Amino acid sequence: MKILGIESSCDETAIAIYDSEQGLLAHMLHSQAALHSEYGGVVPELAARDHIRRLIPLMKKTLSNSNCNIQDIDGVAYTTGPGLMGSLLVGACFGESLAWSLSIPSIPVHHMEAHLLAPLLEDPEIRLPFVALLVSGGHTLLVEVKKIGKYKILGESLDDAVGEAFDKTAKILGLRYPGGPELAALATKGKTGVYKFPRPMTKKPGFDFSFSGLKTYTLNEWQKSKKTDQVRANIALAFEDAAVETLILKAIAAMKITNTRDFILAGGVAANSKLRNLIKKEADKISVKVHFPSIEYCTDNAAMIAYTGYLRFESCKKITREVVCRPRWSLEELND
Ligand code: KG4
Ligand code: ZN
Repeated sequence: MKILGIESSCDETAIAIYDSEQGLLAHMLHSQAALHSEYGGVVPELAARDHIRRLIPLMKKTLSNSNCNIQDIDGVAYTTGPGLMGSLLVGACFGESLAWSLSIPSIPVHHMEAHLLAPLLEDPEIRLPFVALLVSGGHTLLVEVKKIGKYKILGESLDDAVGEAFDKTAKILGLRYPGGPELAALATKGKTGVYKFPRPMTKKPGFDFSFSGLKTYTLNEWQKSKKTDQVRANIALAFEDAAVETLILKAIAAMKITNTRDFILAGGVAANSKLRNLIKKEADKISVKVHFPSIEYCTDNAAMIAYTGYLRFESCKKITREVVCRPRWSLEELND
């Protein structure tokens, strides 16, 4: 069975083809980063219009890279939420129309479930139940996964998602959009120990996060500083250390309380190498195996959408041809 996956929930247009026998055949992506960078963040209307321009040429290239014809496709999976309404609508209308024209089922996919399942693309042997930390531009979620499709949210961000905090902090420091990777690169030039930023909510019980205070703390430190390049790097490092350590403290506590043997780290911020290295080191101490996807499957991509579409083919295939998008959508609503 071949599933064509479509991702258009924010500022990446992506197409992939997953084959149940051969695995991922091809995946391609167009990033709109250059389009939005002059505005310092994603402009929703521009994002939706650009998805319209990119989808068909990208699909043609992906089909040709995978040596497939459109008639070989058995199902169309597309992101139906959460995300930006205009961007979601473009992908959903395209996906439903394509499935209708080919008389095949369509499979609406939850973007965060796709992030959560992305590591299984490369390592399908991850043992259930497991715990996952999903860290992206829109979400910070600690989730207990009893089985695929059965999710319990242990904790989440009460305000800014951690990726959003990275992006906003980067903007404060005058870095380009998207700020997360820029800030992480700058942090490698920072001096350790010059600044010590707070680790929010780590003294409180429970697994919720709050990152907006950390962002304001950074703003205050930057404003009262001499604003040199070295200070900028020192502050970037202090912010990164605080955000990463906060995530890890909560993640380790969740591993202990659930007695999990396996832990998944996924979503765009899982591309951060300090987070990847340190969480592995800390989890090793309590004999928990941490899995994370390759960098290309951490940030938004269509491989994870096609794969999730394949796993959900039987339970979610639709023939109603209805276009329903859900900009806000809890993972727990997927539970049977
Ligand atoms: O999952 P994703 O590609 O899109 C959403 O679903 O939001 O995540 C994007 C987020 C952005 O906030 C971006 O700045 C952050 O992931 N990000 C990083 C790194 N790479 C991407 N944050 C910190 N360090 C990185 N290396
Ligand atoms: Zn994402």
